[in-house]
Amino acid sequence: MSLPSHGANPSHLYRASGVMKPSSVMDFSVNTNPYGPPNWLKEMWPSFFEAVEDYPDPSGYKAAKLIAERFALSPENIMLGNGAAEIIHFIARHAAGQKVVIVTPAFSEYEEACRAYGCRTEYVPVDVQNWKLPIEILVEQAKEAAVLFICTPNNPTGQVFQTEDLLTLLKETRSFGTMIVIDEAFYDFAGDESITSEITSFSHLAVLHSMTKMYAVAGLRIGYLAASKEIINKLKPYRPHWNVNAIALQVAQKIASDAEYAVRTRKWIDKERERMIRELMMIGFVVLPSAVNFYLIKDSALDNQKPLLQFLLKQGIVLRHTENFHGLDGQWLRAAIKKEQENDQLLSALKEWKSQC
Ligand SMILES: Cc1ncc(COP(=O)(O)O)c(C=O)c1O
Repeated sequence: MSLPSHGANPSHLYRASGVMKPSSVMDFSVNTNPYGPPNWLKEMWPSFFEAVEDYPDPSGYKAAKLIAERFALSPENIMLGNGAAEIIHFIARHAAGQKVVIVTPAFSEYEEACRAYGCRTEYVPVDVQNWKLPIEILVEQAKEAAVLFICTPNNPTGQVFQTEDLLTLLKETRSFGTMIVIDEAFYDFAGDESITSEITSFSHLAVLHSMTKMYAVAGLRIGYLAASKEIINKLKPYRPHWNVNAIALQVAQKIASDAEYAVRTRKWIDKERERMIRELMMIGFVVLPSAVNFYLIKDSALDNQKPLLQFLLKQGIVLRHTENFHGLDGQWLRAAIKKEQENDQLLSALKEWKSQC
């Protein structure tokens, strides 16, 4: 049986690996905010009861307006989705049967969505140890492509491409008619730098955001695309009329007005990430630098990290395999930054692994 294509829902990974699931597990394969959602979410509960009685606003205007204001844009530049994942599918549908370029490694859903719509997918690999966009190759590849996907901060590596390089690529591809999709689902973990406001200078730029990660509302499904009206109008026909539910819309409005939660989370995650990476390297693991709430780790004695993944699964510690990330192919594992006590448990399990080797 092949391993699940995404992190989270660890029962699937246990079943596919043939390891018996212990009664309690710590899921490091899900990379949402370990603090959980902001406290105000609990206080909103009574208002959800009223909200579900009516159909939601199909345009999500109030949420779109608040999001747009954050980036000095107009609400017409924002398309809301049932998670950013839904918007990835609209983009793949727009590119149906055509060439799509994916800078890899990258979030596996681009490839899966492209497959569903019969796109011809080309991969442009980036060396994870020397993280830099290969601009010349990308410009060449973009010439015949309907869409080019770039994920930064990158899932799964946690690394960030330089804004300067992204801007050079945008300038050089301006006349091609290729949609350049920059997925910033994790931008608020890396600092607040976003390329979103550049959509006013580049009508072929589309910036993807998710509210799932920083605000830990994965179950609600809420994300958005910021792009020129031209791009939004191209994708609109694929959007089901009420694609974002009324509860998600209310929460999206609150999230759009609460940047403070991200600032607080970031401070804590930065500190904990530095501690984890330092300690893991001290006990002999190879860890890649990361700007966000997860990192790639490997035991360099193993080509494929499956034995380590299985060892941890038996102890109730779930990491994300990298079998379905182009260019990683199981050579690394991805671990989220969790609360201090859970991170300590991961450290002791990894120390035990090393002591047995
Ligand atoms: C890079 C990236 N983009 C988009 C998504 C989809 O996010 P959402 O939960 O908003 O659908 C994910 C989810 O894991 C992701 O990692």
